[in-house]
Amino acid sequence: MSAPVFELRDVSVAYGKIEAVRRVSLELGAGRIVTVIGANGAGKTTLLNAAMGILPAGGEIRFEGRALGHDSIEARVAAGISLVAEKRELFATMSVEDNLRLGAYTRPRGERVAAALEEVYTLFPRLKERRKQASGTLSGGERQMLAMGRALMARPKVLMLDEPSLGLAPRIVKEILHLVADLRRTGVAILLVEQNARAALRIADYGYVMETGSVTLHGPADTLANDPRVIESYLGFAECAA
Ligand SMILES: Nc1ncnc2c1ncn2[C@@H]1O[C@H](COP(=O)(O)OP(=O)(O)O)[C@@H](O)[C@H]1O
Ligand SMILES: [Mg+2]
Repeated sequence: MSAPVFELRDVSVAYGKIEAVRRVSLELGAGRIVTVIGANGAGKTTLLNAAMGILPAGGEIRFEGRALGHDSIEARVAAGISLVAEKRELFATMSVEDNLRLGAYTRPRGERVAAALEEVYTLFPRLKERRKQASGTLSGGERQMLAMGRALMARPKVLMLDEPSLGLAPRIVKEILHLVADLRRTGVAILLVEQNARAALRIADYGYVMETGSVTLHGPADTLANDPRVIESYLGFAECAA
């Protein structure tokens, strides 16, 4: 495999005295989908926030071979790293298109914003249909598309998604994760955090399992999906219908 575009080495994050993420290492190659699965409270969101520079972290985070050190969130976005947070912070009274335009704020004014917009509309035709509509009137699935589209407006090389399936009906979860899988064609590397392990492992190339702050298992997604420990803890029989 070629050199990873994004790499975490022994990343640790504490809230006061409580260590929520403990020496997590992972890597992500260009055009790949890597998933981090784990139960509620495992430390997934904390890990992504540290990778984005929202939370201070120990260890090392490298992008295109360069250690990010104390680089600000803005610097990371400008370098090509984007995060779609669990709370999809959209401006409800603003139109879909204006929300998308905001995603391009790191680019010099006017520079290829129109081209980026067209690209996003090609990936998410539903957003084009609704471009004049206030984003507050969108369905849950459409809001997730808008949040992803807005992140893509910055043309990131690394896109981190924090539980894009959260709160969506099973049919919509499928649709959203299909769209995430399609993003691979754009060449962006995706770090997908999910509680919905079954759906995530279906589209990912590689997976990591997090338990109480640590990575306890990792491997190719299909290997993990067939690992009895993963099946028992994360792919339980009750979920089979989803
Ligand atoms: N702002 C915070 N202050 C203190 N503890 C937090 C904070 N945010 C999360 N935690 C704790 O850190 C742990 C990991 O949380 P989180 O990263 O949100 O997990 P996940 O995203 O996997 O559900 C949990 O025990 C949670 O209660
Ligand atoms: Mg979370």
